[in-house]
Amino acid sequence: MKHLVTLQEAADAVNKTVHNIRDYIQRGRIAKYNPQGEVITRAKNGELRVDLHELRAFLNLVAQGDENHHHDGLHAELGFYGLAERERTKHVHRLHPYLGKFIPQLVEWFLSRYFQPGDILLDPFMGSGTMLIQANEMGMHAIGVDISEFCYRIVCAKTQQYDVEKARQEILRAERLTREFSRNWQYPSPQLSLFDADNVHTLANQLLEQCHSDYMKTWFAPRALVEILYYRHLIETDTFVYKDLLNILLSRAMRSSRLVPHYDLATPKQPLPVGVEYWCRKHNRMCLPIDNCITKIHAYSQDTVRRIATFNQLRTSAQIYPLHGDSRTIDLTPILQGRKITGIFSSPPYVGQIDYHDQHNYAYELFNIPRNDDLEIGPKSNGKSKRAQQAYIDGISGVLRHMKQYLIDDANIFLVANDAFGLYPQIAQASGLKIVEEFHRAVT
Ligand SMILES: C[S@@+](CC[C@H](N)C(=O)[O-])C[C@H]1O[C@@H](n2cnc3c(N)ncnc32)[C@H](O)[C@@H]1O
Repeated sequence: MKHLVTLQEAADAVNKTVHNIRDYIQRGRIAKYNPQGEVITRAKNGELRVDLHELRAFLNLVAQGDENHHHDGLHAELGFYGLAERERTKHVHRLHPYLGKFIPQLVEWFLSRYFQPGDILLDPFMGSGTMLIQANEMGMHAIGVDISEFCYRIVCAKTQQYDVEKARQEILRAERLTREFSRNWQYPSPQLSLFDADNVHTLANQLLEQCHSDYMKTWFAPRALVEILYYRHLIETDTFVYKDLLNILLSRAMRSSRLVPHYDLATPKQPLPVGVEYWCRKHNRMCLPIDNCITKIHAYSQDTVRRIATFNQLRTSAQIYPLHGDSRTIDLTPILQGRKITGIFSSPPYVGQIDYHDQHNYAYELFNIPRNDDLEIGPKSNGKSKRAQQAYIDGISGVLRHMKQYLIDDANIFLVANDAFGLYPQIAQASGLKIVEEFHRAVT
């Protein structure tokens, strides 16, 4: 019997991205179904399903080496078949969720073959900073630019140099105070508490009154909201040294505390009612929406310390420069101080696939960060029309033309792209660049 699921459900169930599942379909590795279980060639809006049994069987074969994700013409090593999830998300790469990243092993593969320690590399679409982190591990200097300020903040938190013991103490203290505050807010008990119960309620009311975000008031249970607001208040008012790291930890915990079904963390449509069970397609049972944030703060506190400690052991003295700005116009002269960039390794956004600011809308709301959605190249909101494709060509070639002034002559530029519309020959031409080699890889 078939177990029909949406692409998002399939992706969640097998720990892949929706993009991966779509790719398996496009390459004919698994079939497309309608909700009635009939094989189809074209799905009506919202009606596309895949068979989870078929998908699992296919992935099992791949894991055993009896099947390829795709047929011939693909680079054997670049599929990274069988690479464990913990390797793909090693150390700081999983400090905060980010949709649309490439795996660190892909970066390592190219950097180790085409660049040397001491080189200066650029990622004009830095995203969550994967290239910068791997370049540093390999002794290469790295500059990254992103138009989304929250991406910039994620990368700063990932790449900052920490006194790990100090960071650990701050993280644990923030957790302990928030737990205590929340307990006192729910069950006032001045004798047993760090806080005076009246103060807790006064402060909680103040924090709630000062919260003007409809998003925050809608997507969180009351207890979760109080915990989030208090943790943010602590970061703002306490003497923590590593505030940026605490902000990223809070944002990650907050994402996991939204009133959303477990099977729809990436693209939730509307909040679930507080305290009402729902049928969870991920766990195949009734689940309750989460009503607090402290559970997640606890889980991610331990995890954050482990991750920064591991990267601390691996990092080299090479420089890392994350920057916030538009890669078509940003001035890199203050950073470069007369030096030239050796090469580019980057994955640009693809046409009409992801709204990069929007994937972190909860963080933009929490920290009240200004947004630059209109400067994003190829956003999902612009669609995939001919017009959107032309805007994409103009955008990416605008970046490459601008960055050329900072590059050495004959620099190698590696762009990881799902060029579904075949736009890169035009982009190369419009940028005055030559495509010298293409590597085709399976998206695993
Ligand atoms: C595919 S993602 C990069 C992911 C990255 N390789 C990683 O592993 O995390 C593309 C990024 O380009 C950024 N971007 C889009 N338009 C931009 C622009 N005009 N200037 C700089 N960055 C831009 C988006 O915000 C997004 O983070």
